[in-house]
Amino acid sequence: MSQRKLFVTTALPYANGKFHVGHIMEYIQADIWVRFQRMQSHMVHFVGADDAHGAPIMIAAEKAGKTPQEFVGEIAAGRKEYLDGFHIRFDNWHSTDSAENTELAQGIYRKLKHSGMIATRTIEQFYDPVKGMFLPDRYIKGECPVCHAKDQYGDACEVCSSVYSPTELINPYSTLTGATPELRSSEHFFFKLSDPKVVEFLKTWTQDGKLQPEMAKKASEWFEAGMADWDISREAPYFGIEIPDAPGKYFYVWLDAPVGYLASLKNHFDKGQAANHWHEASRTPQSFDEFVADPAVEQVHFIGKDIVYFHTLFWPAMLQFSSRKTPSQVNVHGFITVSGEKMSKSRGTGIDPLKYLSIGMNPEWLRYYIAAKLNAKVEDVDFNPDDFIARVNADLIGKYINIASRAAGFVAKRFGGHLGQVSSDGLHVLEVLRLEAENIRALYDSRDFARALREIMALADHVNAYVDANKPWELAKQAGQEARLHDVCSACIEAFRLLTLYLKPVLPTLASKVEDFLKIDPLAWGDVHAPLPSGHPIGEYKHLMQRVDAKQLDQLFEPPEPAPEAAPATALPGGEGIAPTITIDDFAKIDLRIAKIVACQKVEGSTKLLHLTLDAGEGRTRNVFSGIASAYEPEQLVGKLTVLVANLAPRKMKFGISEGMVLAASHADEKAQPGIYVLEPTSGATPGMRVR
Ligand code: 2FM
Ligand code: ZN
Repeated sequence: MSQRKLFVTTALPYANGKFHVGHIMEYIQADIWVRFQRMQSHMVHFVGADDAHGAPIMIAAEKAGKTPQEFVGEIAAGRKEYLDGFHIRFDNWHSTDSAENTELAQGIYRKLKHSGMIATRTIEQFYDPVKGMFLPDRYIKGECPVCHAKDQYGDACEVCSSVYSPTELINPYSTLTGATPELRSSEHFFFKLSDPKVVEFLKTWTQDGKLQPEMAKKASEWFEAGMADWDISREAPYFGIEIPDAPGKYFYVWLDAPVGYLASLKNHFDKGQAANHWHEASRTPQSFDEFVADPAVEQVHFIGKDIVYFHTLFWPAMLQFSSRKTPSQVNVHGFITVSGEKMSKSRGTGIDPLKYLSIGMNPEWLRYYIAAKLNAKVEDVDFNPDDFIARVNADLIGKYINIASRAAGFVAKRFGGHLGQVSSDGLHVLEVLRLEAENIRALYDSRDFARALREIMALADHVNAYVDANKPWELAKQAGQEARLHDVCSACIEAFRLLTLYLKPVLPTLASKVEDFLKIDPLAWGDVHAPLPSGHPIGEYKHLMQRVDAKQLDQLFEPPEPAPEAAPATALPGGEGIAPTITIDDFAKIDLRIAKIVACQKVEGSTKLLHLTLDAGEGRTRNVFSGIASAYEPEQLVGKLTVLVANLAPRKMKFGISEGMVLAASHADEKAQPGIYVLEPTSGATPGMRVR
């Protein structure tokens, strides 16, 4: 077979959080495929990068008191531990916040514009006057226009599932500041996805075998629903790439994110690490530009099912209409669930990948388990602890590792560590194993890892049946059976070599230990037909892999211990202890303001709460729900001054959003000693003054 040239990527993770097991699953899937292709002597460039841009990262960085660059830099620094830990071997890891990505994204945009694919339109959007920025939908909440549920997000209602635009929300507010957003208009740039040329192109592209059948079907449903133009611009302030000739406008993060695939590859080439493909005639390495334009190169993306729209419509269209090569495969996987439970993208699952490693669990157990459950379909993969133990202990160790441990000792002790001749029954077993090579190859190539491993384990069963039929441990005790013992054990070692070769994409570190033990060069697929010859010396067998202990899984799922208290509270006789000491800086974080209670109402349906309308000198009023109804009638409070915690995050309550808290004194044991006393400044204080 001629050598394939592969450019392989996994989805670029947002640089605002650590990896969760969902990321690790995707990387393991791609890594297995890549290692398999390399064993076929194909040429592969396998790259990843952090997806660094966008409003959520900008806002998270600001909250953390860091520049976005510092913020994403810290996240990036943590990636290696996970990737190395699970034996995931990218050739390069880069960032979308890079010179390469800026150049490539701007270049692609210029081409799109040149080919008439960019339109401008003035649109109205919500703007947060306090924050001074346009608000992405997810930072706007309000009452659902359909079912009137309160505090629903700007794009869809979680209660009645209606989809709407944020401007349809009743009483919208910014979740960043609590301010009422204003409609403002600005000019936006659109990629004309509805252009008949684009639709025509995508209708063909999505249906000609590059996608899994279920994804191709999804795409035709999208076409039926109609293609809308894609808004690719955002207004400053934004952490992203500037749009050429459009001051103050940035590419929407999803425009430059997939370009990051190319940027990471370019960075890899520019570092001079990728020159493993040469022009035959001149013996000079292919440049990045030549490589990505080379019709022989296959561009293969591994992604999750949540980002299919971007990768099967926007991305190929961007490439096509900027005169670039389009992807060859977009391989979509499902999500990982844990004992049947869905995980959230932000919280992850019950499995913390670093905890998995830190408690001494073998990363190749997880690689094996995930591989045993992955196929080429867009199906979720469930991590089930009991199933995990069974597959690792019964299959991986019980069937495969045991073959070596049953034969190697005799070869070392009785035959000076040298293999002998294998006779016809052993050769037959080995032939059965070799005959499966093509089938297993095809299964790996089509990403049906689950079936590949089932076939391999069936072969291991076959070898174990041969071991059980010949009982080397009994041959060893019988006089005159030396030659037969040597024969059977040599067949077992060769069988073990073949099984190791087949498992190597999944278990690279284990395979490398086996290569050392067998004193052989790194196994490639072609070595199926290069059996160990009689007389070949092998090393001393050392235990290759431990069994999983059920206790390790208990430990993995134990909830993390709560952070220890800084210092114990000091007990006071008859009262509440003094809280642990804080610094003046801690105190300065709390912004206390004088506020005037301009209105006060009882809250229908609550005996505890009063609804206060406060003026803290901000040119607007705030709603605060306060648990003081047992102590005050509303009219007692109207017109009074009090102290407001002004920078407390707005809190969603059953009755509405509370935008702060007023200070009041009470006894620790409210039942025994009732009484609540709202703080009031002495005369002269005015709304908006800071309390320090
Ligand atoms: O969904 C996500 O996590 C995105 N950061 C994936 C981007 S993939 C590619 F386009 F960069
Ligand atoms: Zn609703």
